[in-house]
Amino acid sequence: MTEKATILVVDDEHGVRQSFNMLLKDAYDVLLAETGEEAIRIFSKYSIDIILLDIRLPDIDGLDLLTQLKEADPNTEIIMVTAVKEIQTAVKSIKSGAYQYIIKPFLIDDVLGTIRRALEKRSLVKEVTYLRNELERHHTFEKMLGKHKKMREIFDLISIISQSDGTVLIQGESGTGKELVARAIHNRSPRRDQPFVVLNCAAIPPTLMESETFGHNRGAFTGAIGTNIGKLEIADGGTVFLDDIDSLDFSMQGKLLRIIQEREFERLGSTKIIRVDLRFVAASNKQLDEMISRREFREDLFFRLNVFPVHLPPLREKKSDIPLLINHFLELNAKKTGKPPKKFATEAIKALKEYDWPGNVRELQNLVERLFTITRDNIIQIKNLSTFNHLGKRVIKDTTLKEAVNTFEKQFIDNVLESVGGNKSKAAERLGIHRNTLLAKINEK
Ligand SMILES: Nc1ncnc2c1ncn2[C@@H]1O[C@H](COP(=O)(O)OP(=O)(O)OP(=O)(O)O)[C@@H](O)[C@H]1O
Ligand SMILES: [Mg+2]
Repeated sequence: MTEKATILVVDDEHGVRQSFNMLLKDAYDVLLAETGEEAIRIFSKYSIDIILLDIRLPDIDGLDLLTQLKEADPNTEIIMVTAVKEIQTAVKSIKSGAYQYIIKPFLIDDVLGTIRRALEKRSLVKEVTYLRNELERHHTFEKMLGKHKKMREIFDLISIISQSDGTVLIQGESGTGKELVARAIHNRSPRRDQPFVVLNCAAIPPTLMESETFGHNRGAFTGAIGTNIGKLEIADGGTVFLDDIDSLDFSMQGKLLRIIQEREFERLGSTKIIRVDLRFVAASNKQLDEMISRREFREDLFFRLNVFPVHLPPLREKKSDIPLLINHFLELNAKKTGKPPKKFATEAIKALKEYDWPGNVRELQNLVERLFTITRDNIIQIKNLSTFNHLGKRVIKDTTLKEAVNTFEKQFIDNVLESVGGNKSKAAERLGIHRNTLLAKINEK
Protein backbone atom coordinates (compact mmCIF):
# COMPACT_ATOMS: atom_id res chain seq x y z
CA MET A 1 0.00 0.00 0.00
CA THR A 2 1.49 3.31 -0.97
CA GLU A 3 -0.80 5.66 0.94
CA LYS A 4 -1.17 5.44 4.69
CA ALA A 5 -4.49 4.05 5.82
CA THR A 6 -6.67 6.36 7.92
CA ILE A 7 -7.94 5.21 11.29
CA LEU A 8 -10.57 6.97 13.34
CA VAL A 9 -10.48 6.34 17.10
CA VAL A 10 -13.76 7.02 18.89
CA ASP A 11 -13.53 6.94 22.68
CA ASP A 12 -14.69 9.28 25.41
CA GLU A 13 -11.68 8.57 27.62
CA HIS A 14 -8.79 10.85 26.90
CA GLY A 15 -6.25 8.25 28.08
CA VAL A 16 -7.55 5.58 25.71
CA ARG A 17 -7.54 7.95 22.74
CA GLN A 18 -3.99 8.98 23.48
CA SER A 19 -2.68 5.47 23.87
CA PHE A 20 -4.23 4.41 20.54
CA ASN A 21 -2.77 7.51 18.97
CA MET A 22 0.72 6.74 20.27
CA LEU A 23 0.48 3.18 19.10
CA LEU A 24 -0.79 3.91 15.60
CA LYS A 25 0.45 7.31 14.53
CA ASP A 26 3.68 6.13 12.90
CA ALA A 27 2.07 3.63 10.57
CA TYR A 28 -1.32 5.26 10.01
CA ASP A 29 -3.05 8.60 9.78
CA VAL A 30 -4.99 8.79 13.04
CA LEU A 31 -8.07 10.90 13.71
CA LEU A 32 -9.61 11.16 17.17
CA ALA A 33 -13.24 11.66 18.24
CA GLU A 34 -14.57 12.02 21.75
CA THR A 35 -18.27 11.55 21.08
CA GLY A 36 -20.52 9.78 18.61
CA GLU A 37 -21.55 13.05 17.10
CA GLU A 38 -17.96 14.10 16.53
CA ALA A 39 -17.29 10.71 14.95
CA ILE A 40 -20.13 11.19 12.48
CA ARG A 41 -18.86 14.65 11.58
CA ILE A 42 -15.32 13.39 10.92
CA PHE A 43 -16.63 10.36 9.06
CA SER A 44 -18.61 12.50 6.65
CA LYS A 45 -15.59 14.71 5.93
CA TYR A 46 -12.74 12.20 5.53
CA SER A 47 -12.24 8.90 3.83
CA ILE A 48 -11.79 6.47 6.70
CA ASP A 49 -10.47 2.93 6.35
CA ILE A 50 -10.84 1.64 9.89
CA ILE A 51 -12.76 2.83 12.95
CA LEU A 52 -11.90 1.79 16.49
CA LEU A 53 -15.22 2.32 18.20
CA ASP A 54 -15.85 2.31 21.92
CA ILE A 55 -19.07 0.48 22.70
CA ARG A 56 -19.97 2.92 25.50
CA LEU A 57 -20.17 6.50 24.40
CA PRO A 58 -21.72 9.40 26.30
CA ASP A 59 -24.15 10.54 23.59
CA ILE A 60 -24.95 7.62 21.25
CA ASP A 61 -25.21 3.89 21.82
CA GLY A 62 -22.12 2.24 20.27
CA LEU A 63 -24.17 -0.40 18.45
CA ASP A 64 -26.48 2.20 16.92
CA LEU A 65 -23.52 4.20 15.76
CA LEU A 66 -22.01 1.06 14.26
CA THR A 67 -25.14 0.39 12.22
CA GLN A 68 -25.33 3.99 11.10
CA LEU A 69 -21.70 4.10 9.97
CA LYS A 70 -21.88 0.74 8.21
CA GLU A 71 -24.93 1.91 6.31
CA ALA A 72 -23.16 5.07 5.24
CA ASP A 73 -20.10 3.18 3.99
CA PRO A 74 -20.13 -0.62 4.15
CA ASN A 75 -16.46 -0.69 3.13
CA THR A 76 -15.19 0.94 6.29
CA GLU A 77 -14.17 -1.77 8.72
CA ILE A 78 -15.20 -1.15 12.31
CA ILE A 79 -13.43 -2.69 15.27
CA MET A 80 -15.35 -2.44 18.53
CA VAL A 81 -13.47 -1.63 21.72
CA THR A 82 -15.09 -3.05 24.80
CA ALA A 83 -14.66 -3.84 28.47
CA VAL A 84 -14.77 -7.43 29.65
CA LYS A 85 -18.20 -7.01 31.24
CA GLU A 86 -19.69 -6.04 27.90
CA ILE A 87 -18.60 -9.00 25.86
CA GLN A 88 -22.21 -9.96 25.12
CA THR A 89 -22.79 -6.64 23.39
CA ALA A 90 -19.51 -6.99 21.54
CA VAL A 91 -20.54 -10.36 20.18
CA LYS A 92 -23.80 -8.80 19.03
CA SER A 93 -21.85 -6.09 17.26
CA ILE A 94 -20.31 -8.66 14.91
CA LYS A 95 -23.81 -9.56 13.73
CA SER A 96 -24.40 -5.88 13.02
CA GLY A 97 -21.38 -5.72 10.76
CA ALA A 98 -18.40 -5.02 13.04
CA TYR A 99 -15.19 -6.63 11.81
CA GLN A 100 -13.97 -7.71 15.26
CA TYR A 101 -13.86 -6.54 18.84
CA ILE A 102 -10.93 -6.00 21.14
CA ILE A 103 -11.14 -6.13 24.87
CA LYS A 104 -9.76 -3.50 27.23
CA PRO A 105 -7.12 -3.52 28.56
CA PHE A 106 -5.83 -4.52 25.18
CA LEU A 107 -2.60 -6.16 24.09
CA ILE A 108 -0.62 -4.16 21.58
CA ASP A 109 -0.07 -7.10 19.26
CA ASP A 110 -3.77 -7.90 19.26
CA VAL A 111 -4.66 -4.38 18.25
CA LEU A 112 -2.06 -4.16 15.52
CA GLY A 113 -2.85 -7.65 14.21
CA THR A 114 -6.58 -6.99 14.09
CA ILE A 115 -6.06 -3.70 12.28
CA ARG A 116 -3.74 -5.30 9.76
CA ARG A 117 -6.21 -8.08 8.99
CA ALA A 118 -9.09 -5.63 8.69
CA LEU A 119 -7.06 -3.59 6.20
CA GLU A 120 -6.23 -6.70 4.21
CA LYS A 121 -9.88 -7.64 4.06
CA ARG A 122 -10.75 -4.10 3.02
CA SER A 123 -8.27 -4.00 0.17
CA LEU A 124 -9.49 -7.35 -1.05
CA VAL A 125 -13.12 -6.29 -0.97
CA LYS A 126 -12.20 -3.09 -2.78
CA GLU A 127 -10.31 -5.04 -5.42
CA VAL A 128 -13.14 -7.48 -6.01
CA THR A 129 -15.72 -4.67 -6.13
CA TYR A 130 -13.63 -2.77 -8.64
CA LEU A 131 -13.21 -5.88 -10.70
CA ARG A 132 -16.93 -6.68 -10.65
CA ASN A 133 -17.69 -3.18 -11.90
CA GLU A 134 -15.17 -3.54 -14.68
CA LEU A 135 -16.63 -6.90 -15.59
CA GLU A 136 -20.16 -5.57 -15.65
CA ARG A 137 -19.11 -2.92 -18.11
CA HIS A 138 -16.76 -4.73 -20.48
CA HIS A 139 -16.57 -8.37 -19.44
CA THR A 140 -12.82 -7.95 -19.44
CA PHE A 141 -10.24 -8.63 -16.82
CA GLU A 142 -6.69 -7.70 -17.66
CA LYS A 143 -6.48 -9.11 -21.19
CA MET A 144 -9.01 -11.83 -20.56
CA LEU A 145 -12.62 -11.87 -21.57
CA GLY A 146 -15.37 -13.87 -19.99
CA LYS A 147 -18.82 -13.56 -18.57
CA HIS A 148 -19.39 -17.25 -17.93
CA LYS A 149 -19.72 -18.01 -14.23
CA LYS A 150 -16.60 -20.17 -14.30
CA MET A 151 -14.54 -17.28 -15.68
CA ARG A 152 -15.97 -14.82 -13.17
CA GLU A 153 -14.89 -17.16 -10.44
CA ILE A 154 -11.42 -17.34 -11.94
CA PHE A 155 -11.21 -13.54 -12.04
CA ASP A 156 -12.20 -13.29 -8.38
CA LEU A 157 -9.66 -15.96 -7.55
CA ILE A 158 -6.90 -14.09 -9.38
CA SER A 159 -7.70 -10.94 -7.41
CA ILE A 160 -7.37 -12.80 -4.17
CA ILE A 161 -4.26 -14.71 -5.16
CA SER A 162 -2.47 -11.62 -6.40
CA GLN A 163 -2.68 -10.06 -2.94
CA SER A 164 -0.67 -12.91 -1.50
CA ASP A 165 2.78 -14.27 -2.24
CA GLY A 166 1.91 -17.98 -2.29
CA THR A 167 2.87 -20.29 -5.11
CA VAL A 168 0.24 -20.83 -7.80
CA LEU A 169 -0.41 -23.85 -9.98
CA ILE A 170 -2.50 -23.18 -13.08
CA GLN A 171 -3.85 -26.29 -14.75
CA GLY A 172 -5.86 -26.38 -17.93
CA GLU A 173 -5.81 -27.73 -21.46
CA SER A 174 -3.70 -26.14 -24.12
CA GLY A 175 -4.95 -22.73 -25.25
CA THR A 176 -7.19 -22.08 -22.24
CA GLY A 177 -5.31 -18.95 -21.18
CA LYS A 178 -2.84 -20.17 -18.57
CA GLU A 179 -0.20 -17.64 -19.51
CA LEU A 180 -2.74 -14.84 -19.48
CA VAL A 181 -3.72 -15.82 -15.95
CA ALA A 182 -0.09 -15.92 -14.82
CA ARG A 183 0.50 -12.44 -16.21
CA ALA A 184 -2.72 -11.14 -14.67
CA ILE A 185 -1.64 -12.40 -11.24
CA HIS A 186 1.71 -10.64 -11.61
CA ASN A 187 0.20 -7.43 -12.93
CA ARG A 188 -2.19 -7.18 -10.03
CA SER A 189 0.35 -8.08 -7.37
CA PRO A 190 2.63 -5.74 -5.41
CA ARG A 191 5.42 -7.12 -7.63
CA ARG A 192 3.93 -5.59 -10.76
CA ASP A 193 6.82 -3.16 -11.29
CA GLN A 194 9.38 -5.95 -11.04
CA PRO A 195 10.16 -8.48 -13.78
CA PHE A 196 7.83 -11.24 -14.97
CA VAL A 197 10.16 -13.94 -16.26
CA VAL A 198 9.01 -16.99 -18.21
CA LEU A 199 10.92 -20.22 -17.80
CA ASN A 200 9.57 -22.45 -20.52
CA CYS A 201 10.29 -25.95 -19.29
CA ALA A 202 9.15 -27.60 -22.54
CA ALA A 203 11.11 -25.42 -24.93
CA ILE A 204 14.48 -25.47 -23.18
CA PRO A 205 16.44 -28.71 -23.74
CA PRO A 206 17.11 -30.50 -20.44
CA THR A 207 20.87 -30.07 -20.85
CA LEU A 208 20.54 -26.30 -20.90
CA MET A 209 17.83 -26.06 -18.29
CA GLU A 210 20.11 -25.70 -15.28
CA SER A 211 22.26 -23.05 -16.83
CA GLU A 212 19.18 -21.15 -18.06
CA THR A 213 17.64 -21.29 -14.61
CA PHE A 214 20.59 -20.76 -12.28
CA GLY A 215 23.11 -19.17 -14.62
CA HIS A 216 26.73 -20.22 -14.85
CA ASN A 217 30.15 -18.82 -14.28
CA ARG A 218 32.81 -18.84 -16.92
CA GLY A 219 34.21 -22.30 -17.45
CA ALA A 220 31.46 -24.03 -15.46
CA PHE A 221 31.19 -26.63 -18.21
CA THR A 222 32.58 -27.20 -21.67
CA GLY A 223 31.35 -24.36 -23.81
CA ALA A 224 30.57 -22.01 -20.94
CA ILE A 225 32.59 -19.18 -22.36
CA GLY A 226 31.24 -16.21 -20.49
CA THR A 227 29.24 -15.75 -17.35
CA ASN A 228 25.53 -16.15 -17.78
CA ILE A 229 22.94 -14.77 -15.40
CA GLY A 230 20.11 -17.23 -14.91
CA LYS A 231 16.41 -16.53 -15.14
CA LEU A 232 15.96 -16.74 -11.37
CA GLU A 233 18.44 -13.96 -10.81
CA ILE A 234 16.91 -11.85 -13.56
CA ALA A 235 13.50 -12.26 -11.95
CA ASP A 236 14.66 -11.19 -8.48
CA GLY A 237 11.91 -9.17 -6.82
CA GLY A 238 9.35 -10.29 -9.37
CA THR A 239 7.50 -13.37 -10.57
CA VAL A 240 8.84 -16.50 -12.25
CA PHE A 241 6.41 -18.27 -14.56
CA LEU A 242 7.29 -21.96 -14.79
CA ASP A 243 5.48 -22.82 -18.00
CA ASP A 244 4.81 -26.48 -18.91
CA ILE A 245 6.22 -27.57 -15.57
CA ASP A 246 5.23 -31.16 -16.40
CA SER A 247 8.13 -31.26 -18.89
CA LEU A 248 10.81 -30.85 -16.22
CA ASP A 249 12.93 -33.93 -15.69
CA PHE A 250 13.00 -35.54 -12.29
CA SER A 251 16.36 -34.22 -11.17
CA MET A 252 15.47 -30.65 -12.14
CA GLN A 253 12.19 -31.04 -10.27
CA GLY A 254 14.20 -31.74 -7.12
CA LYS A 255 16.42 -28.71 -7.65
CA LEU A 256 13.45 -26.48 -8.22
CA LEU A 257 11.82 -27.75 -5.05
CA ARG A 258 14.86 -26.65 -3.10
CA ILE A 259 14.75 -23.17 -4.61
CA ILE A 260 11.07 -22.76 -3.84
CA GLN A 261 11.69 -23.81 -0.27
CA GLU A 262 14.86 -21.89 0.37
CA ARG A 263 14.85 -19.09 -2.17
CA GLU A 264 18.58 -19.52 -2.67
CA PHE A 265 20.89 -21.25 -5.13
CA GLU A 266 24.34 -21.12 -6.70
CA ARG A 267 25.29 -20.45 -10.28
CA LEU A 268 26.83 -23.46 -12.02
CA GLY A 269 30.55 -23.44 -11.39
CA SER A 270 30.23 -21.18 -8.38
CA THR A 271 29.84 -21.75 -4.67
CA LYS A 272 28.54 -18.30 -3.86
CA ILE A 273 25.00 -18.50 -2.57
CA ILE A 274 22.56 -16.16 -4.27
CA ARG A 275 19.42 -15.20 -2.37
CA VAL A 276 16.38 -14.19 -4.35
CA ASP A 277 12.97 -12.78 -3.55
CA LEU A 278 10.58 -14.50 -5.96
CA ARG A 279 7.02 -15.50 -6.48
CA PHE A 280 6.46 -18.72 -8.40
CA VAL A 281 3.55 -19.35 -10.74
CA ALA A 282 3.55 -22.70 -12.56
CA ALA A 283 1.40 -24.00 -15.39
CA SER A 284 0.69 -27.43 -16.78
CA ASN A 285 -1.65 -28.84 -19.39
CA LYS A 286 -1.19 -32.36 -18.11
CA GLN A 287 -2.88 -33.89 -15.11
CA LEU A 288 -0.09 -33.71 -12.56
CA ASP A 289 -1.84 -36.06 -10.13
CA GLU A 290 -1.80 -38.75 -12.80
CA MET A 291 1.86 -38.07 -13.46
CA ILE A 292 2.53 -38.43 -9.74
CA SER A 293 0.93 -41.84 -9.64
CA ARG A 294 3.10 -42.85 -12.62
CA ARG A 295 6.10 -41.46 -10.69
CA GLU A 296 6.84 -38.93 -13.39
CA PHE A 297 6.25 -35.93 -11.19
CA ARG A 298 7.45 -35.41 -7.65
CA GLU A 299 4.64 -35.29 -5.18
CA ASP A 300 6.53 -32.98 -2.82
CA LEU A 301 7.03 -30.45 -5.61
CA PHE A 302 3.35 -30.71 -6.51
CA PHE A 303 2.32 -29.82 -2.96
CA ARG A 304 4.77 -26.93 -2.87
CA LEU A 305 3.33 -25.54 -6.09
CA ASN A 306 -0.31 -26.23 -5.43
CA VAL A 307 -0.74 -23.65 -2.64
CA PHE A 308 -3.22 -21.80 -4.85
CA PRO A 309 -4.68 -24.12 -7.49
CA VAL A 310 -6.33 -22.53 -10.53
CA HIS A 311 -8.23 -24.81 -12.89
CA LEU A 312 -9.02 -23.19 -16.21
CA PRO A 313 -12.09 -24.60 -17.93
CA PRO A 314 -11.82 -25.74 -21.55
CA LEU A 315 -13.75 -23.62 -24.05
CA ARG A 316 -16.37 -26.34 -24.55
CA GLU A 317 -17.39 -25.87 -20.92
CA LYS A 318 -18.00 -22.14 -21.35
CA LYS A 319 -19.52 -22.00 -24.81
CA SER A 320 -21.69 -19.01 -23.92
CA ASP A 321 -18.47 -16.95 -24.04
CA ILE A 322 -17.84 -17.86 -27.69
CA PRO A 323 -19.70 -14.87 -29.23
CA LEU A 324 -17.93 -12.45 -26.88
CA LEU A 325 -14.54 -13.91 -27.80
CA ILE A 326 -15.31 -13.94 -31.52
CA ASN A 327 -16.23 -10.26 -31.50
CA HIS A 328 -13.16 -9.43 -29.48
CA PHE A 329 -10.85 -11.24 -31.92
CA LEU A 330 -12.62 -9.66 -34.89
CA GLU A 331 -12.04 -6.22 -33.41
CA LEU A 332 -8.40 -7.03 -32.71
CA ASN A 333 -7.89 -8.09 -36.33
CA ALA A 334 -9.59 -5.00 -37.69
CA LYS A 335 -7.37 -2.84 -35.51
CA LYS A 336 -4.21 -4.73 -36.39
CA THR A 337 -4.78 -4.67 -40.14
CA GLY A 338 -6.57 -1.33 -40.42
CA LYS A 339 -9.25 -3.05 -42.50
CA PRO A 340 -12.96 -2.36 -41.97
CA PRO A 341 -14.60 -4.38 -39.20
CA LYS A 342 -16.29 -7.69 -39.97
CA LYS A 343 -19.03 -9.66 -38.25
CA PHE A 344 -20.10 -13.28 -38.11
CA ALA A 345 -23.62 -14.13 -39.27
CA THR A 346 -25.77 -15.43 -36.41
CA GLU A 347 -25.97 -18.83 -38.07
CA ALA A 348 -22.20 -19.02 -38.29
CA ILE A 349 -21.79 -18.23 -34.60
CA LYS A 350 -24.33 -20.90 -33.82
CA ALA A 351 -22.35 -23.44 -35.82
CA LEU A 352 -19.15 -22.50 -34.02
CA LYS A 353 -20.89 -23.07 -30.71
CA GLU A 354 -21.61 -26.65 -31.77
CA TYR A 355 -17.94 -27.43 -32.15
CA ASP A 356 -15.89 -28.74 -29.22
CA TRP A 357 -12.69 -26.69 -29.64
CA PRO A 358 -9.93 -29.09 -28.60
CA GLY A 359 -7.43 -26.23 -29.01
CA ASN A 360 -9.64 -23.96 -26.89
CA VAL A 361 -9.45 -20.16 -27.09
CA ARG A 362 -6.25 -20.24 -29.11
CA GLU A 363 -7.92 -22.37 -31.79
CA LEU A 364 -10.89 -20.00 -31.90
CA GLN A 365 -8.57 -16.99 -32.10
CA ASN A 366 -6.64 -18.54 -35.01
CA LEU A 367 -9.80 -19.45 -36.86
CA VAL A 368 -11.22 -15.95 -36.51
CA GLU A 369 -7.96 -14.49 -37.77
CA ARG A 370 -7.97 -16.76 -40.84
CA LEU A 371 -11.59 -16.06 -41.64
CA PHE A 372 -11.05 -12.35 -41.18
CA THR A 373 -8.19 -12.48 -43.67
CA ILE A 374 -9.73 -14.65 -46.37
CA THR A 375 -13.40 -13.64 -46.29
CA ARG A 376 -14.07 -10.82 -48.75
CA ASP A 377 -17.53 -10.01 -47.52
CA ASN A 378 -17.87 -8.04 -44.28
CA ILE A 379 -20.26 -10.63 -42.94
CA ILE A 380 -18.71 -14.04 -42.40
CA GLN A 381 -21.32 -16.64 -43.36
CA ILE A 382 -21.69 -20.26 -42.47
CA LYS A 383 -20.54 -21.20 -45.98
CA ASN A 384 -17.21 -19.53 -45.30
CA LEU A 385 -16.70 -21.80 -42.34
CA SER A 386 -17.04 -24.93 -44.36
CA THR A 387 -13.50 -24.53 -45.66
CA PHE A 388 -12.53 -25.68 -42.22
CA ASN A 389 -13.21 -29.04 -40.83
CA HIS A 390 -15.30 -27.87 -37.89
CA LEU A 391 -18.41 -28.61 -39.78
CA GLY A 392 -16.98 -31.67 -41.47
CA LYS A 393 -20.32 -33.07 -42.51
CA ARG A 394 -20.99 -29.99 -44.57
CA VAL A 395 -17.69 -30.36 -46.41
CA ILE A 396 -18.03 -33.98 -47.30
CA LYS A 397 -20.64 -34.39 -50.00
CA ASP A 398 -20.22 -36.21 -53.30
CA THR A 399 -17.12 -38.18 -52.48
CA THR A 400 -16.24 -41.78 -51.79
CA LEU A 401 -15.93 -42.77 -48.17
CA LYS A 402 -12.16 -43.06 -48.48
CA GLU A 403 -11.82 -39.58 -49.94
CA ALA A 404 -14.13 -38.20 -47.33
CA VAL A 405 -12.14 -39.81 -44.55
CA ASN A 406 -8.90 -38.49 -46.04
CA THR A 407 -10.28 -34.98 -46.34
CA PHE A 408 -11.52 -35.11 -42.81
CA GLU A 409 -8.23 -36.48 -41.50
CA LYS A 410 -6.20 -33.88 -43.31
CA GLN A 411 -8.27 -31.04 -41.97
CA PHE A 412 -8.41 -32.51 -38.53
CA ILE A 413 -4.62 -32.78 -38.39
CA ASP A 414 -4.26 -29.21 -39.66
CA ASN A 415 -6.56 -28.03 -36.97
CA VAL A 416 -4.89 -29.83 -34.13
CA LEU A 417 -1.50 -28.64 -35.39
CA GLU A 418 -2.77 -25.12 -35.44
CA SER A 419 -4.22 -25.40 -31.97
CA VAL A 420 -0.84 -26.32 -30.53
CA GLY A 421 1.00 -23.63 -32.42
CA GLY A 422 2.51 -26.03 -34.98
CA ASN A 423 4.31 -28.15 -32.37
CA LYS A 424 4.34 -31.60 -33.98
CA SER A 425 5.14 -33.56 -30.83
CA LYS A 426 2.28 -31.93 -28.98
CA ALA A 427 -0.04 -32.50 -31.94
CA ALA A 428 0.91 -36.19 -32.16
CA GLU A 429 0.22 -36.57 -28.49
CA ARG A 430 -3.15 -34.90 -28.80
CA LEU A 431 -4.02 -37.07 -31.80
CA GLY A 432 -2.94 -40.19 -29.99
CA ILE A 433 -0.49 -41.22 -32.71
CA HIS A 434 3.27 -41.53 -32.87
CA ARG A 435 5.15 -38.43 -33.99
CA ASN A 436 6.59 -40.35 -36.96
CA THR A 437 3.11 -41.37 -38.09
CA LEU A 438 2.09 -37.75 -37.94
CA LEU A 439 5.12 -36.65 -39.96
CA ALA A 440 4.31 -39.29 -42.58
CA LYS A 441 0.74 -38.12 -42.80
CA ILE A 442 1.79 -34.51 -43.18
CA ASN A 443 4.17 -35.47 -46.00
CA GLU A 444 1.44 -37.41 -47.79
CA LYS A 445 -0.72 -34.34 -48.11
N1 LIG B 1 -10.39 -15.51 -21.75
C1 LIG B 1 -9.65 -15.11 -22.79
N2 LIG B 1 -9.89 -13.91 -23.37
C2 LIG B 1 -9.16 -13.49 -24.41
N3 LIG B 1 -8.16 -14.18 -24.96
C3 LIG B 1 -7.86 -15.37 -24.44
C4 LIG B 1 -8.58 -15.91 -23.32
N4 LIG B 1 -8.07 -17.11 -23.02
C5 LIG B 1 -7.09 -17.33 -23.89
N5 LIG B 1 -6.94 -16.30 -24.75
C6 LIG B 1 -5.98 -16.18 -25.87
O1 LIG B 1 -5.77 -17.51 -26.34
C7 LIG B 1 -4.40 -17.71 -26.62
C8 LIG B 1 -3.87 -18.83 -25.76
O2 LIG B 1 -3.74 -18.39 -24.42
P1 LIG B 1 -2.49 -18.83 -23.54
O3 LIG B 1 -1.24 -18.74 -24.32
O4 LIG B 1 -2.54 -18.08 -22.25
O5 LIG B 1 -2.90 -20.36 -23.31
P2 LIG B 1 -2.14 -21.53 -22.53
O6 LIG B 1 -3.14 -22.13 -21.62
O7 LIG B 1 -0.89 -20.99 -21.93
O8 LIG B 1 -1.84 -22.57 -23.70
P3 LIG B 1 -0.63 -23.68 -23.82
O9 LIG B 1 -0.91 -24.73 -22.80
O10 LIG B 1 -0.78 -24.19 -25.20
O11 LIG B 1 0.63 -22.93 -23.57
C9 LIG B 1 -3.68 -16.40 -26.37
O12 LIG B 1 -3.54 -15.71 -27.57
C10 LIG B 1 -4.62 -15.67 -25.43
O13 LIG B 1 -4.50 -14.30 -25.61
MG1 LIG C 1 1.09 -21.41 -22.42
